[in-house]
Amino acid sequence: MSKQLNIGLFGFGVVGESLYNVLLQTPTLNASITKVVIRDPRKRRSAPAALFSTDASEILNDESINVVVELIDDADAAFQIITTALLNGKAVVSANKKCIAEHLDELLLLQQQTGGALLYEAAACASIPVIRNLEEYYDNDLLQGIVGVVNGSTNFILTRMVEDDLTFKDALLLARQLGFAESDPSLDVDGIDALNKLAILLLHGYGIVTEPGLLLHSGIRHITRSDISYAAEKGYRIKLVACAVKLKNGRIIALVLPQFVPRSSLLHNVNNEYNGVTIRSGLADEQFFYGKGAGGFPTASAVLSDLSALRYNYRYEYRKKFLQESSVLSQYGFLKVYVSFDSHITFPSDEFEWIEERHSGPGRNYITGVVSQKKLLQDDWWRQPGISLILSAEPFVEDIELRNVKRKSLQLAGVA
Ligand code: HSE
Repeated sequence: MSKQLNIGLFGFGVVGESLYNVLLQTPTLNASITKVVIRDPRKRRSAPAALFSTDASEILNDESINVVVELIDDADAAFQIITTALLNGKAVVSANKKCIAEHLDELLLLQQQTGGALLYEAAACASIPVIRNLEEYYDNDLLQGIVGVVNGSTNFILTRMVEDDLTFKDALLLARQLGFAESDPSLDVDGIDALNKLAILLLHGYGIVTEPGLLLHSGIRHITRSDISYAAEKGYRIKLVACAVKLKNGRIIALVLPQFVPRSSLLHNVNNEYNGVTIRSGLADEQFFYGKGAGGFPTASAVLSDLSALRYNYRYEYRKKFLQESSVLSQYGFLKVYVSFDSHITFPSDEFEWIEERHSGPGRNYITGVVSQKKLLQDDWWRQPGISLILSAEPFVEDIELRNVKRKSLQLAGVA
């Protein structure tokens, strides 16, 4: 017998309202919203006024409410709500990737201490059930890589810049109007939202808990029309890609960077607000998840699925972390990149391990070659305005390959 869910909902924005409407249409779920806590009582809302309150304790201290659904966009307030709800014996469903990614350790501990369930399928790739699949299906040893477009807004912006020739600013405005972007859109544009999602995927895929900000990342703010033209000439599309890939030494290289995506990649046709995640596993080879990664109903669908799972007392076991040997992050990878820069910039070419191509064009130059992940983590020359760094289509260079190439070039130069 599945249990009755009495829900206290925090937030009635795009996703909260969609969830409310969906629950009205799914009586078989045995779940109903008892109270909704909102910040601004003056806003007009499409639900009975008696449902709303501005007092969080009306949910958190109400013993008849057994599930808290947290759909607000303030990560600090969300953390307070989630922790209090768990301590008060309630199950929690959240879509707040920033809050979850920034507090993974504390939230894991609290679930262990309280025995309560915290589910957050909507926090990564909205409608795509990627967290539960990584958690349940893929055995750690077999998981070779998770590579995905996990932020709908930046993907929407890049698609509209290419297809409608929109400026970055106009495309961002449209993404905000359509409800895809965060209320602070720099989280999308600077790659932080994708990074938070990657941190969550690292935990469920590889058992790794990491502070998101320690991973190599950037966004799409500095991508220029000349980068887009370069990509188009080569048959590539530029996408903000999040990856966690197992290197030959068994360590995991994890990063969020713009990347040239070739036609042969399953991610090439992931456009607009869609997300796509490819999972490479030792036996099954490549598998592909595709779906809407932002927007009210797609996100509400993941929340609904978590609610449904709670009826059967589902909770994450964090198997890769607690029941298997966790993987370790690599800080010493090498990456093949394209770096373009305004022609007045004196470019630090000694930042490259080796250079494959240099090009000077009207107003804009570029270099392709190999850089060290560690150096990029330490330096910020590549984050400056007027410079864009884009991963090549096959970006990971193993240490051994690098040493071979360096040895050969020294031999050619007659040095070794
Ligand atoms: N701003 C997020 C995105 C919303 O664009 O992907 C969904 O997490």
